[in-house]
Amino acid sequence: MTLRNIFIAIFALCLQTNHPPVVKIGSPANQSHIAAGAQLSYEVQVTDQEDGDSRYDEIDTKAVLLELTRLKPGARVPPPNAHAATDPGLDIMAGNNCFNCHLFKGKALGPSFFDIATHYPTTTANIDTLVRRVGAGSSGIWPGSEKMPSHPELSAAAIRSTVQWILHNGAREDRSFFNGTTGLLRFPADKPGTYILTASYTDHGLKDLPTPHLKGSDRVIVIVQ
Ligand code: HEC
Repeated sequence: MTLRNIFIAIFALCLQTNHPPVVKIGSPANQSHIAAGAQLSYEVQVTDQEDGDSRYDEIDTKAVLLELTRLKPGARVPPPNAHAATDPGLDIMAGNNCFNCHLFKGKALGPSFFDIATHYPTTTANIDTLVRRVGAGSSGIWPGSEKMPSHPELSAAAIRSTVQWILHNGAREDRSFFNGTTGLLRFPADKPGTYILTASYTDHGLKDLPTPHLKGSDRVIVIVQ
């Protein structure tokens, strides 16, 4: 390879950029009204230039996340991207295939985040143990589960933020999480109010190149009366 070709190759590499995913909540419509106690189906579309399109089954639907948050009575609706930076642990999990084997609720290959958060109180000792097991891999802890592989691609600090996220948020009542592009939401009869639905997807970056994973999101407000 001549020096000129090497420069051209480096230049071509620099031109390759990862594009952010586009996430759209198809339904419900923003500002939908619904009766307390009723059910509401939702549907999310994801398009990512590198990963593909959810309409053609090119996106792993388990990695499409929906968050349902109930606003405290009287609280103002925060601006659309206000919470985007507050969930680094969740973003790391979404970009690193943790949802291949874990769901927020319900059993997959591994235990659900709800079950993990209910099982382990948030103590430093528990966090240290779980960080070690996620890093090195684990088997035999959860009856009936398979083996969790090691995660050498993640730093200890990154794993710590995922474990902290799971223990803090896995079993919360004011914030619930769902996996998938479609589903049915139930609004408890005794909890009317303003709910925020946020759908998000974190992409896988460029294949074989260390590019940051990018996240796209969309949100709608649902008023439960
Ligand atoms: C290939 C499937 C798979 C992947 C990918 C995976 N896990 Fe697991 N995970 C499991 C299984 C299976 C278990 C239960 C292992 C056991 O019983 O010891 C588990 C257990 C856990 C536990 C509980 C450990 C304990 O000691 O109770 C945590 C926390 C966890 N995983 C987090 C993660 C995070 C964070 C990621 C992504 C970085 C991840 N997992 C990726 C399959 C997986």
